[in-house]
Amino acid sequence: MRVGVFDSGLGGLTVVKAITNIFKGAQIFYIADTQFAPYGQKSKEQILNHSFDIANYLITNHQIDALVVACNTATSAAIKELREHYPNLIVIGTEPGIKPAISISKSGQIGVLATPATLKGEKYQLLVDKLSSSSSHIKLYEQACAGLVDQIEMGKIEDKTTFDMLNNWLLPMKNNGVDTIVLGCTHYPLVSTCIKKIMGDDINLIETGYAIANRLFFLSKEFGHKNDGELSVTVFFTADININMIDKILGTWKNGGKIKVRNINE
Ligand code: DGL
Repeated sequence: MRVGVFDSGLGGLTVVKAITNIFKGAQIFYIADTQFAPYGQKSKEQILNHSFDIANYLITNHQIDALVVACNTATSAAIKELREHYPNLIVIGTEPGIKPAISISKSGQIGVLATPATLKGEKYQLLVDKLSSSSSHIKLYEQACAGLVDQIEMGKIEDKTTFDMLNNWLLPMKNNGVDTIVLGCTHYPLVSTCIKKIMGDDINLIETGYAIANRLFFLSKEFGHKNDGELSVTVFFTADININMIDKILGTWKNGGKIKVRNINE
């Protein structure tokens, strides 16, 4: 089985990490589209074009059987069009975990952190409309985290600037009794420590990597995948990338599998 995964940068590796915990006997081709990161401050059309460029590259050069859009922003902008255009490809997207947040929250006060493009997108609005009609006791505190992805791409995950940014966004949530935060961008699990410092260790953080890994596992089985043997991961990047961060994210698994890091143009 050959699986393509992409994101604007390092964030989607949090999804790859979850995949490596349950998935075997496959080749994973990951694209970190750092040349165009961050996606979250781009237009739908730009994100759609980048998503198609990457999907075409993965199909033509790596003959993928499945495509995981490990990015909430690209899912919001392009998943419908990707599915329509590649009907024979398994296409899995990423959506903010509002539903699990509603089922876990005790206070009913839920924070949603995402990129500006995800929160503005029609897909997010539809998701919220659908869920809020059946959950009137829930209040969502949405925050577009402009600039946070850049901090993470630079590896500044425990930096004072990153802490201050998050503190500004999260303190009002804390004061309103938020007990659950949806990490609506695959980069944000990388600043979980910082979020916990502000919100306290008891805060529920909802990330979607494991749900996506399970979905891939399930659909691959239907495809005839045996889930047996070695897993290899190749990380391609389209411009500069922080190699230390790749090690940090995939590090523990790396010892048990094969990982290569490549510039896509070489
Ligand atoms: N990791 C991405 C997401 O899940 C995109 C971040 C960005 O490039 O703005 O939304």
